[in-house]
Amino acid sequence: MHKPTRRTLLRSIAAGGGSAAVFRIMDALGMLGPGTANAAALDLPPGSGEGGRVVILGAGVSGLAAALEMSRAGWHCTVLEASGRPGGRNLTARGGDVLTEPGMRQEVCFDREEHLYANLGPARIPYHHGTVLGYCKEFGIELEVFTNDNRAAFFHNRERFGGRPIAARQVLTDMRGYVAELLAKAVDRGALDAELTADDKERVHAMLKSFGGLQDDHSYLGTNRAGYRGAEINAGMAAGEIEDNLDFRELLGADFWKYKLHFSHFLNQNPTLFQPVGGMDAIIRAFTERVGHLVHYECVVEQIRRQGDGVRIVYRRPDGTERAALADYAICTIPAPVLKDIPNDFSPEAQAALASLEFVEAVKVAFQAKRRFWEDDAAIYGGISWTDNDITQIWYPCNGYLRPKGVLVGAYIWGRKPGLRYSAMSAPERLRAALAEGEPLHPGYADEMECGISRAWLNVPFQKGGWPRRNPDAAAVLRRPDGPFHFAGDQVTALPGWQEGSLLAAHAAARAIHHRFTGR
Ligand code: ALA
Repeated sequence: MHKPTRRTLLRSIAAGGGSAAVFRIMDALGMLGPGTANAAALDLPPGSGEGGRVVILGAGVSGLAAALEMSRAGWHCTVLEASGRPGGRNLTARGGDVLTEPGMRQEVCFDREEHLYANLGPARIPYHHGTVLGYCKEFGIELEVFTNDNRAAFFHNRERFGGRPIAARQVLTDMRGYVAELLAKAVDRGALDAELTADDKERVHAMLKSFGGLQDDHSYLGTNRAGYRGAEINAGMAAGEIEDNLDFRELLGADFWKYKLHFSHFLNQNPTLFQPVGGMDAIIRAFTERVGHLVHYECVVEQIRRQGDGVRIVYRRPDGTERAALADYAICTIPAPVLKDIPNDFSPEAQAALASLEFVEAVKVAFQAKRRFWEDDAAIYGGISWTDNDITQIWYPCNGYLRPKGVLVGAYIWGRKPGLRYSAMSAPERLRAALAEGEPLHPGYADEMECGISRAWLNVPFQKGGWPRRNPDAAAVLRRPDGPFHFAGDQVTALPGWQEGSLLAAHAAARAIHHRFTGR
């Protein structure tokens, strides 16, 4: 018999354990090179958890990742999930699905085509969220680019520019031009002579001229970066006329600059961002293929107790019977607004931290359009329009370009007041309101739509909100183990509202439990 080469060995491992196994072995053999940026695996030593028991509360991204990593290390894992599905806030709506909120039942009306879906929870993955991307790589999840920033999309403010939506290319170009003009003039007038040498001034002038598209006399009169007048946007056979520059006072008076103009400069909103092809729940499917058998659905946790050195979790099963799960440790990923109300043996500090975490009143509304009017009429391919109406944003699909139909997100709300307003509406009211508020951006909007759905996360029983408002002190308390209890989910991290946070928290909890258990 031939001695197996590394290649034949890897082939046979692939046949038995799949690409993930190969990836791990290659990593162990040092064949992947130093430090892959997108390394998901926690790599607890195989067998290190043998004889240990952990109960994981919640089968969202965090709970599933904890179950995967710990079961791989030999832990006996039990996952208790209150709802009937895995994923938590990672929810993709497709034709035929049913969405429920108390007193509200919505059947998802979208046609059954692979590009007609809405990610009602997480919808974008930034390039530096290496743990999410690492799992996508390990699981073989196909990604496509998610467009956050589109210069053809609109900025809309009811009070400015006569309530007209303005293309982002114009807003960005003209704001930049005017700011460059002001600074160049200040330099011209000697206002910065104390700060700048003559050489510096020359360079600053050259930079500002290029940066802002200024004239030789440092005035800003507009540039073709803002596009051309009329429906064509660009010059063609003939040069066309450059779009008139926007009034600077109107620009200053609008709310665009407050954060919307530089939204994509925020680190977590920087290009490149991704989405899994076909829906964000591809990540959940991949996890459940591996650890779905460990999840007990419709099991509602009623008490979280200490017992000896371990835990006793009392829960109600779907048939109404009460059960208790005993384990050495518990990982609590249940969102704080829900967790704080479950009778528990947490320390007073942990209880206070949970009570102080407020969750955002996030709402999404999604419509199926009869035609992709945003592409046909406004050359908008993906990206986001902004409005000071309560809907806040319209998201155009980053898939299915040029096809007959599309699903767009007609409202993405996270502000408290608009979130509460939309959360209090009935399903048809939400659709009517979102259509009316989108109308100024796309005249004839309502007539373009076939149907719509909505999700107000505040109303969802085992979620009670979108994600935690920033509260670093509470998160820091919850990062510390509380006896046998470890807290997880995005709520304990500096990345609230991101799956990356949920995964990092799962890893931190699993690693901490591993160290306690093995003494290493
Ligand atoms: N991560 C969420 C977003 O990007 C909050 O909107």
